[in-house]
Amino acid sequence: MSINTNHPALPDLKFLEELANKFFQEQPHVQSLEKDVVALPVTTPAEKIPDAFRSGAGISPTGSINALNAIDLSHSNPTQNQGLFSESPVAAKGISPTAYQQGNEVNLANPQTSLPDPHFAGEGKIPQSLAGSGISPSFQQHDFEQHLPFVQEQIQVPSLALGTHENHVGQLPLASPSAFSYYFLPQTSQQDFTKIFVQEKKQHPKANAVKTSFDAYWVKKDFPILQEKVNGRPLIWLDNAATTQKPRQVIDRISYFYEHENSNIHRAAHELAARATDAYEGARERVRAFLNAKSTNEIVFVRGATEAINLVAKSWGEQYLQAGDEIIVSHLEHHANIVPWQQLAIKKGLKIRVIPVDDDGQVILAEYAKLLNSRTKLVSFTQVSNALGTVTPAKEIIDLAHQAGAKTLLDGAQSVSHLKVDVQYLDTDFFVFSGHKVFGPTGIGVLYGKEALLNATQPWQGGGNMIKDVTFEHTQFHPAPNRFEAGTGNIADAVGLGAAIDYVQQLGIEHIHEYENALLHYATALLKDIKGLRLVGTAPDKASVLSFTLKGFTNDEVGQALNKEGIAVRTGHHCAQPILRRFGLESTVRPSLAFYNTCQDIDVLVETLHKLQAGY
Ligand code: ALA
Repeated sequence: MSINTNHPALPDLKFLEELANKFFQEQPHVQSLEKDVVALPVTTPAEKIPDAFRSGAGISPTGSINALNAIDLSHSNPTQNQGLFSESPVAAKGISPTAYQQGNEVNLANPQTSLPDPHFAGEGKIPQSLAGSGISPSFQQHDFEQHLPFVQEQIQVPSLALGTHENHVGQLPLASPSAFSYYFLPQTSQQDFTKIFVQEKKQHPKANAVKTSFDAYWVKKDFPILQEKVNGRPLIWLDNAATTQKPRQVIDRISYFYEHENSNIHRAAHELAARATDAYEGARERVRAFLNAKSTNEIVFVRGATEAINLVAKSWGEQYLQAGDEIIVSHLEHHANIVPWQQLAIKKGLKIRVIPVDDDGQVILAEYAKLLNSRTKLVSFTQVSNALGTVTPAKEIIDLAHQAGAKTLLDGAQSVSHLKVDVQYLDTDFFVFSGHKVFGPTGIGVLYGKEALLNATQPWQGGGNMIKDVTFEHTQFHPAPNRFEAGTGNIADAVGLGAAIDYVQQLGIEHIHEYENALLHYATALLKDIKGLRLVGTAPDKASVLSFTLKGFTNDEVGQALNKEGIAVRTGHHCAQPILRRFGLESTVRPSLAFYNTCQDIDVLVETLHKLQAGY
């Protein structure tokens, strides 16, 4: 059947073509586009458009344009071109030309769920020998002399005096779970772990030595920004508690989405809607596995940890809390876990109670137990303090809350990149985290909630995507997670977060934790030797953060001196004023670690501080 292009209701095609050509001729650098793209849809009757152009053929417009540019396309003879395209090995297979050319493994039987992403493990995209082996995902992209993923690095740990855990650099945490019972899961993988990590204590007059086989130098190469120079020096990124850097795999995954999958989700029958929906829901499954949630229905995508807490306050809190009810938070909380509850408390007449911390910065469990009573409806607290690095005894706090009949919200903004989180083991009712603190993009984060609880909670925002049926009188909502995802969300960055989780999972969160723990002890010991340096936050159980002040210098002066050497740290109140004031401070200097930091990074930090103190 042919379309009547002389239909009286249609505009004059000749005139439209002239207009379009004039428009494009006036644009800089678009001569070839004018020829190949603009003229084609106007002058080619629909039935003559090559199959590969048709919606649903699965070829990206870019792919089509490139193909057109590569051949001598004559608009006056589209039939000839149709023959050319129908021979294309990729036409109508739902595979992007790029992927085809790169020779990635693609499941032709089900292209929609087997998108050609070179970075995904477990879906046949990564050669079996790499997936899950703990090898950096970019292993094949780098030309390293040493092809073993984990070469041995020696971390020298000078005199350690870290309270009750003074020996744990020499004792892998997983080998002594009791010392870490606050946050280590019942162990199941010790065998595998010890195969990869070789640990050795050496005799040294002043130092213990730990050999780990995690090679941070090698992993660092996955992060393009870490090759930057700042003030002529190699960038040393020690501001990981504020945000983490992104590996090439995450950056590429987001580009790939926009180049091959971009569409709105859940709402159309066309190919790209299917690709985008698969990619988005695939990311949700990755988050589920990462947190060990029972179901993807328990994973709600939000803007970040702050939005997740606000969601709980403004939906569950609005619905279930009444005047006289009590919410417990800890003294460690950052503002995102204080302000939403305060707003709700003012509105509803609630009481906020605060778990005190000791002089090391750890919550005092005995005092917490005294705060719990029949009016306690929620205990909302952090798993890792962003200002001090304290790892709280999350399981104990949650269990005590449940015994008192309260719900719990665990803030994982600072924990998920450092510790294994298992929401079923922890049994928390809600858990929140931000994508950008776990090597993913900004503007995407997660609210985990137990499924029944989410479904018993009213939505906080209304709109498309979250409804089953709408009349002017009544709206029926979807169950979770959609009931909390009104409108078009941050689809591409959810997909990017999925890639970040793949990256972390492939390195292994237990390996990351072990390496960072050794690095934290290394840095702690060296910082303690600096004259006039006061470490703020000295709890035995810590992750990543080394807050301090330096006598004789403002925190800004220290930050600026470090910046001159290319070192990025945060100075200020870290959005956690109450806990700094507990220590008599308004701000600190805060280096914070990630797995791509090295002993060399710490050495430059420490050397710069020594020089500053010595007046160089
Ligand atoms: N909460 C973030 C930090 O600790 C912004 O820096």
